[in-house]
Amino acid sequence: MIDQLVIPSPDAIPLPAPVWLLKGLLLLTFLLHIIPMNIALGGSFTAYITDLLGRRRTSEYHMTLARSFAKVIPIAMAFTITLGVAPLLFLQVLYGQLFYTSSILMAWPWLSVIALIILAYYGFYLYSYRWEKLSGARLSVVLLSGVLVAIVGMIYTQNLTLMLTPEKFAALYHSNPSGTHWNVDEPTVIPRYLHFFVASFAITGLFVVIYGLGKMKSNMAFGQWAVKYGVLWFTIATIIQMAVGIWFLLALPKDVMMLFMGQNILATGLLGAGIVLPIISMMLLILAAKSEKPRALAVSGIAGLALTLIVMVIMRDIVRDGYLAGKFDVFDRVVDPQWGVMALFAVILVAGLIVVGYMIRSVLTATRAAEAGVTKQDA
Ligand code: HEM
Repeated sequence: MIDQLVIPSPDAIPLPAPVWLLKGLLLLTFLLHIIPMNIALGGSFTAYITDLLGRRRTSEYHMTLARSFAKVIPIAMAFTITLGVAPLLFLQVLYGQLFYTSSILMAWPWLSVIALIILAYYGFYLYSYRWEKLSGARLSVVLLSGVLVAIVGMIYTQNLTLMLTPEKFAALYHSNPSGTHWNVDEPTVIPRYLHFFVASFAITGLFVVIYGLGKMKSNMAFGQWAVKYGVLWFTIATIIQMAVGIWFLLALPKDVMMLFMGQNILATGLLGAGIVLPIISMMLLILAAKSEKPRALAVSGIAGLALTLIVMVIMRDIVRDGYLAGKFDVFDRVVDPQWGVMALFAVILVAGLIVVGYMIRSVLTATRAAEAGVTKQDA
């Protein structure tokens, strides 16, 4: 069947804010979504391996870290889901014609995300609250939940790439209208997905580094061990990511790839930064792991990776619009700004972020107080 480009008409209601602003908010909120997502995804597998090593080697350090993961992952899951809603709204507003269509074409896998997330969530709660009771069985529980979350990520990648190829929509629908499609023949699906999957271990590694820096105040030896352990995860993942990143770049359609190879100065500069920054971060973190006083080096390395994340999110958006070039231009949408609504959104967003910051601080303070209590009792 010949591919025929069929894109549904846009929503009759004009956009409530300029495209650049909605896009900026989409990228910002997506960035906020992927940070906890990385900790839930990478953290579940890292917890499994750390817990396994702890049991095999009867290593108290591994067990303490795995126990901390068990406490953090349900919180990271909650943040992933809540912080996923905002980019979902912006994505629907800007790219609804494409995103709704691809979601309908793969309706069953797409809807299964809800069940998968609920099951994974239960598993993470069991891992956290039945730690002692489950004993060795908890390893299978956290591994299974990790696999479920990894499947959710794969479904997202499938849908978010299918929406980029509207020329496939009509043919797919006519071949089978029952919403059971996947996007497996898309050449970027596997490297794109692996790019997210591998990154989640690097970010989890950084999370362990931050955790270690925090622990150094109360238990220097354990804190230093955790910094080293986190750097190890980060380094292995980043080295693998170099290969995955090249694969992803080469799998892109030629005209999109060329944007990053000199045709578009911004895209090319971002690719350069996206290669150099993680290498600098990796070197700083390796030096931190070898240092007696790792804080300054580690914080600089983490800052480098925070910049890398921002660069990657912008590159991903360039890939999206590169794919759609000539088929759909998001800047063509009719705009009728409703500044009152947007101002209200901005106020609620800032208030929400302050509340989240307050919640994280409260959890950290309570954890520290509980630990101090345990230490006093021990003494
Ligand atoms: C807990 C399991 C989740 C995982 C592992 C996950 C993972 C991912 C991944 C890997 C991507 C990028 C896919 C790609 O570009 O190839 C993504 C994008 C996205 N996720 Fe999540 N996600 C999860 C839950 C959610 C939830 C519950 C929501 C909404 C309520 C959500 C909203 C989004 C949105 C809107 C995007 C696309 C943003 C854009 O294209 O600019 N996610 N997610």
